[in-house]
Amino acid sequence: MSATDCPLPDEGEFWLFGYGSLIWKPPPHFDRRIPGWVTGYVRRFWQASQDHRGTPEAPGRVVTLISRSYWEQLTDHHDSAPDKVWGVAYRIIPERVAEVKEYLDIREINGYTIHYTPFHPAPDVDASLLPGTSEGHIKTLVYIGTPDNEQFVGPQDPQELAEHIYRSEGPSGLNRDYLWGLEKALDLLSSESGDEHVTDLSNRVRAVAVREEGKIQADIEILRAQSPVNVSPGLESLHHHHHHHGFHKVSSVDEQEETEKAS
Ligand code: BEZ
Repeated sequence: MSATDCPLPDEGEFWLFGYGSLIWKPPPHFDRRIPGWVTGYVRRFWQASQDHRGTPEAPGRVVTLISRSYWEQLTDHHDSAPDKVWGVAYRIIPERVAEVKEYLDIREINGYTIHYTPFHPAPDVDASLLPGTSEGHIKTLVYIGTPDNEQFVGPQDPQELAEHIYRSEGPSGLNRDYLWGLEKALDLLSSESGDEHVTDLSNRVRAVAVREEGKIQADIEILRAQSPVNVSPGLESLHHHHHHHGFHKVSSVDEQEETEKAS
């Protein structure tokens, strides 16, 4: 991209585009949060997560952006994608830009690399919040897990992907909560910010959750029938055990860590 395609924002301004967890978990030191979109990309759950929503032994799945022209050459079960990838742009407060940039540049986040892309603010955004020289768009930094990174997974069968997300968990919490968090955060951005890939996976994972809850209830019924007197006190722990994969409840400090790695 040439400089004229993407003019520099006001001097000293530094904006970051979030299309995943950054939408609902802001980076440190921002003073503006603007809904809007970028084009030329497709958002997909094609990036393995070993550090947040999975582990090195059992990586979860999080979103990355695929260049649209590359995606068009692939066979994807989700064979359509909106032209606009909705998300949010954050302006880092001018006094903290040098610090945040240094922090971002030195940080390697699980396969993602730094790119720059023009961001288009939603039409209803108050113009006084936007940089004066942006000519309708803002140069934003974006993290992309490109197809050449080790954590890139590529096209997956949607049902297998949903099952995978359902059973994955990492230090930042359940993989399904990331998916549903993204679905909700996109919903809140605009009436047109829905993403079929995200809503279809969310619906599939909800169906998996109902199925798995049903299995637990059936197990409980069997145990009850076998031992009607003694089983009841243990039912809670059976239920708990099923959901517990060895992680502690996410504290606000852990959440901040995901934000900081993402930012
Ligand atoms: C995000 O846009 O939310 C994001 C993308 C890649 C890594 C971390 C966060």
